[in-house]
Amino acid sequence: MPFLGIRFKLSFVSFLLVTAVIAVSSVAVMGIMDRFLLGELVKRGTSLSRGAANTAAFGLLAHDRLVVDNLVAKLKERQPDVLYVAAVDHDGIITAHSDLRKNGARYEQKAPAKVISRDVDGTMVTLDSRGGRDIYEFSTPIRFAARKIGSLHLTIDGVTLVDARGDARRMVALASGLILVVAVLASYYLAGFFTTPIKKLQEGVSQLRSGKYQGALTVKLHDELGELTSNFNQMAQVIVQQQDKLEEYAHGLEESYLATVKILATSIDARDDYTLRHSTRVAALSVMLGQQLGLHTEELRDLEVAALVHDLGKIRIPDKVLKKAAPLNEEELEMVRLHTRHGAEILSHSRALQRFVPAVLYHHEWYDGQGYPEGLKGAEIPLFAKIIAIADAYDAMTTSRPYRSGLPAAIAINEITRYSGSQFEPALVDLFVRSLGQPNHAIPQLMLRLSA
Ligand SMILES: [Fe+2]
Repeated sequence: MPFLGIRFKLSFVSFLLVTAVIAVSSVAVMGIMDRFLLGELVKRGTSLSRGAANTAAFGLLAHDRLVVDNLVAKLKERQPDVLYVAAVDHDGIITAHSDLRKNGARYEQKAPAKVISRDVDGTMVTLDSRGGRDIYEFSTPIRFAARKIGSLHLTIDGVTLVDARGDARRMVALASGLILVVAVLASYYLAGFFTTPIKKLQEGVSQLRSGKYQGALTVKLHDELGELTSNFNQMAQVIVQQQDKLEEYAHGLEESYLATVKILATSIDARDDYTLRHSTRVAALSVMLGQQLGLHTEELRDLEVAALVHDLGKIRIPDKVLKKAAPLNEEELEMVRLHTRHGAEILSHSRALQRFVPAVLYHHEWYDGQGYPEGLKGAEIPLFAKIIAIADAYDAMTTSRPYRSGLPAAIAINEITRYSGSQFEPALVDLFVRSLGQPNHAIPQLMLRLSA
């Protein structure tokens, strides 16, 4: 489901509420207008009927048909929605009718469908339906000296009322539409008034989370949102200060960690004058191979540290064995072989260095399983251990000792290649040889800069 913002939701809810209010109001207004328009029609019709009845009274009394005819004709002529006007005498005979053909006939008054009103003076308003149209009939008694001498009947076409109601409905609909549009725009604007500070807060939280906090948010409102923004600013300040402190601590820890590694590496090399800086060179060669493998920076750094401390366990081997010029007997060889376990055991005491245990413990394992301490083979041997094994062997062969010169690089490479598949992993050997064989191959600058 797509993300819907608070502003949209607020605007939508406001739209629904406004629509509901407008719908209810429109129905109520149209009901009132309907009653008002009907009331106006009744008033007008009653007034016309009464006036005509009063005038007709003299004509009927004087038996002056001309007066009554004239009255009926004028009335019909002046009021376009009047269907007919009829003056009826006491006997129910039409004395004058706007339709002259009906003069002299008996006035037939049908039973109306609905009586709308009846006045104290006797005017009755009824509603009937003829041919699908509403017809309003106004019947007023014609009196003279409180004596009824006839009646006047006037009918008005209800289509006028229908048209007036239609006009009124259109006006109400138009007004409702305009109100709705204005209300929607206003609610959208008002929603923005509330959501803008929330959006700013959200941006502030995102900045804090991503470590790109750009300073305190401006507090424009003096309400709950303003207070929330102000509290956020205080909280953000505390977090930023704590982050700075954490960075300081992390920096200090990093320095302590590097110092520890440097001390360890220096201690290892110091045990044996003849292999001075052996650890540093193994680290550089390992990183070179790691780069060829495409390891990323963090992995290369770990590889460098692992290589620097790979022979850490040798500090537990007595000098008489470690520095013995003559070939070692089996017992002495076993003591030397234990340096992998010693190194792993020493590193396991430090939480920061524990992750280098596998590389240190297995850097004398052989690809074919003939190595020590556990006889792992192939993929069982950790990658860092296999890399360090190649770099360690190459450096040991090419470094000069007081009692022998180091082998030329080409011979050392031949030796490494000869043991590809038995002591070393073939793919790594190929990569190592290829990178050493490249013209102007560069031994990478170590990140820990131990040689500095
Ligand atoms: Fe070793």
